[in-house]
Formats: sequence, structure tokens, C-alpha cells
Amino acid sequence: MDEYANAAHTAVELVADYVADARAGVGPVTAQPDPDELAAELELDRWIREGGMDTDAFAAWLEHYFEATVRLHHPGSMAHQVATPSTGAALADLVHGATNNPMAKYEMGAAGATIEREVVRWMLRMVGFGDDSGAGVLTHGGSIANLTALLAARARVAPDAWRAGVPGDLALLAPRSVHYSITRAAAILGLGEQAVIELEVDELERIRPDRLTSALDRCAVAGRRPLALVATAPATSTGLHDDLRSIGAFCADHGIWLHIDAAHGGSALLSERYRGLLAGIELGDSVVWDAHKMLRTSALCAAVLVKRGGDLPGAFQQHGDYIFDGHDSVGFDLVDRALETTKATLGLKLFLSLAWAGERGLGEYVTSRYDLTRRFHDALSEEPGITCPYVPESNILCFRVDGRDQLELRDQILAGGRLHISSTTIAGERYLRLVVTAPDTGEETIDQLLSTLRTKPAVSSQPAGCSG
Ligand SMILES: Cc1ncc(COP(=O)(O)O)c(C=O)c1O
Repeated sequence: MDEYANAAHTAVELVADYVADARAGVGPVTAQPDPDELAAELELDRWIREGGMDTDAFAAWLEHYFEATVRLHHPGSMAHQVATPSTGAALADLVHGATNNPMAKYEMGAAGATIEREVVRWMLRMVGFGDDSGAGVLTHGGSIANLTALLAARARVAPDAWRAGVPGDLALLAPRSVHYSITRAAAILGLGEQAVIELEVDELERIRPDRLTSALDRCAVAGRRPLALVATAPATSTGLHDDLRSIGAFCADHGIWLHIDAAHGGSALLSERYRGLLAGIELGDSVVWDAHKMLRTSALCAAVLVKRGGDLPGAFQQHGDYIFDGHDSVGFDLVDRALETTKATLGLKLFLSLAWAGERGLGEYVTSRYDLTRRFHDALSEEPGITCPYVPESNILCFRVDGRDQLELRDQILAGGRLHISSTTIAGERYLRLVVTAPDTGEETIDQLLSTLRTKPAVSSQPAGCSG
């Protein structure tokens, strides 16, 4: 392992310099080179064919690699819901990268499995499910977590579906604004996208609790029975939360499985100031919560949590003699509740992120990003020619520059190299979108965004205040 120690040492130093530079705003925040030119620059073909990389060659190669990365630690990095990894989480990847204990079977990694069990218990408590009565598992991403939750819902409503196939009368109640992994799950689960009965939303795409009865009526008229109703906390595009309390009460009254996709916002449970946004989350039957969004782990580390512990193993009725041997041995296995067979030690990232910052430290991080997003809103809304359709609830904010093609404007902003922002639509209209995640994004970044927007041509001069 001398070679590993040497090369890893070099890599750690180079990565640490990269992070420090990015935090100081050195270098472009994003790079979009031509992929063929990049492949040539990185000499991918030669390395694949010939091998022979050593520590020195690796160090030189890594510098080129860094040049074509998105610098997530850069204060101007505000495009996507991707975490700026904490020190603890980054170290977890280093450890897992060499120890590689895929621990869905206890025998294959007792430490990793035990850590996963404990962080899942912590998440169950945070959500209000009870760590003994509920159950959960970490998955490789929120999309798989959503699929797993809906599989559990399907097993409850149609217990024979695993063996006999999916009955044709199931429906999924969800607004058009749900993350696409939900409608994709409906198709994967054999319901078909047509089984999605659209819930009515307000002008900002939040579920209208007062229209849920009519959705249920539509479901009955279509001769279908609800598999589950999906609410989001918060929505990917807007960062706005569905009213979980009202929706939860409706689902309880009608015996409908409530799935809450809190992939983005679950982490606000740690924030004293913002946890109220998730009031009612405990009314869900299942909840998805991504640690690789706001708990600062690298991709991926997501949790699917269910209120009744039996619902998760109930989702999978599987045989596989080499893995499900029925023999009672020490520890516990996760293979009965996870879509994946080989699973990385996902819990280690979340554990070390928590162990470094503590619940309180991560909660303060969430609070500071949510607070700063409001300051972005206030500054943008005072700017002539900029429209903000709502006051942000989380660290996601949408705005539009009147009289401009928003996508073209985004391209220009990205080409400047100082700011990375995204775009979305709300009720069919195109907006620019910020996701304020990097710990070093601050007041200067607000000034920078404003001055960038001011220097672009053709910004209308009439004031257009932010509403809502
Ligand atoms: C609300 C919501 N659900 C699910 C997902 C999908 O999660 P992942 O990217 O981890 O698969 C996202 C990702 O942006 C999301 O915002």
C-alpha cells in the first residue's frame, strides 16, 4: 500500500488546494469544454489502453481534471441541489474508497451496517416516526428512495401485485409539479403514467388542499383506487412547500397512503427557525430525505423512511439463495428492504458529516442558507426590471429579468465564469433559478449577481416589484 499512501497523500493535498481556491472564488465556477477536446486533453484513450499512471502522472492529470469540474465550493455556485461536501463527509468517501464494505448484509461490513442503522434511527426520530415502530434504509439517491416508497405503498394496497402483477385500477394522486422520479416510478411500477391523477395546484404549483376531494371523485369516476398521494417539501422548481398538515389530515380521513418527498427539505428539521415548514411530516406513511442535498454529503446518500416498520420489508418478497438463506446469524441484513444488492457505506458519509458539525451545526448551516436566499430575494426585488414571483421559503429562489430570453441570459451569465445558476418553469413561464448552497456564498455574491444583471443589455427600466 506504499503506492496508495503516496498517491493518496498527493491527491489529498491537491484536492485541499482545489477546495481552498474554489472557496476563495479562484477559477471559473463551471467549465463546459467540448467533450472531444476534453477527452483529448485528459488523454483518456491513451490511459485506458496503456495504463501506467503513477503518482507524478496522476498529480499532473488531476490538475487537468479539476479544470473541467464544477467548483461547488465557489461562492458563485448556485445552480443545482448538490451539496458542498463537509470535511467529515469527504473523509467518508476516502475511507469507503479503499475499504469498500458493501454492507447490505451485516457479514459484509458490520461497522458500516451499524452506522447506517443508527443514522436511519436518528432520521426516523427527526421525522417523528419513532425509531422502533418505523423503518428505513439508505439508498443511492432520492429517485430510488421514491421508487422504494411507492413500492411499499403498492404492497399495502395490492399485496398480491408482486406475484400476480399490477391490478389495472390503481391510481397515483400527484400534482404535475412533483419531481419526475415520481411519475417515472409510476411507470416502472407498472401503473403506467396514465394512472397518475393530477392534483390541482395554485399559481405557484402547490397542492390545493381544498381541491383534494374533487381529485378523489375523479379517481372514482375513472374506476380507480388510490395507491398513494404524493406531496413535496419543498418542490424542486420553486422551493415552496405543500401544506403537509391539511394534506395529511385528508389522507388520514380517507385511508390514503401519504408519501412525502422531502428529498430537498427534510434537512430543515434540524433548523430551529425553519423546521415549522415541515409541520405535518409525521402524518406521512413514507418520507424521502436526501442527505446529499442539505446535509452536506457527497452524492449519493438518501433515506426512505416508513412509519410502520413492516411496510418496507413487505415491499420486497424476494428469494435469492446465495443471499437470503433464512439462517439466523449475528447482526441484521438490509437486503430485504433495499432495491440495491450491493450498497455503498452510505451511512458513513452522513454519520461523519454529523459527527463533525453536530445536529446543531448542520441546522445552523441550513438556517444560514435559507436566510441568505431571502436576502437575495429582497435585493433582486428592489431591482428595476426583475420579477420575483414569491418570497422564498427555502434556499431555492426563482426570478426573471423582464424583456429577456431567460435561457440566453443564463448562457451569458455562465460564460462569465463567476456565477453558475439554473433555470426552470413555473406554471409554464420560464424563470432563472438559484439554489444557495455553498457555505461561502454571501452578501458579495448578491452584489456580484446584481452587477452582472445590470451590465446585460436590454433590461427593461420599469420597476416590477416582487409579489407574494
Ligand atoms: C423533490 C425531489 N425529489 C427527488 C429528487 C431526486 O433525487 P436524486 O437526484 O437524489 O435521485 C430531487 C432531486 O432534485 C428532488 O428535488
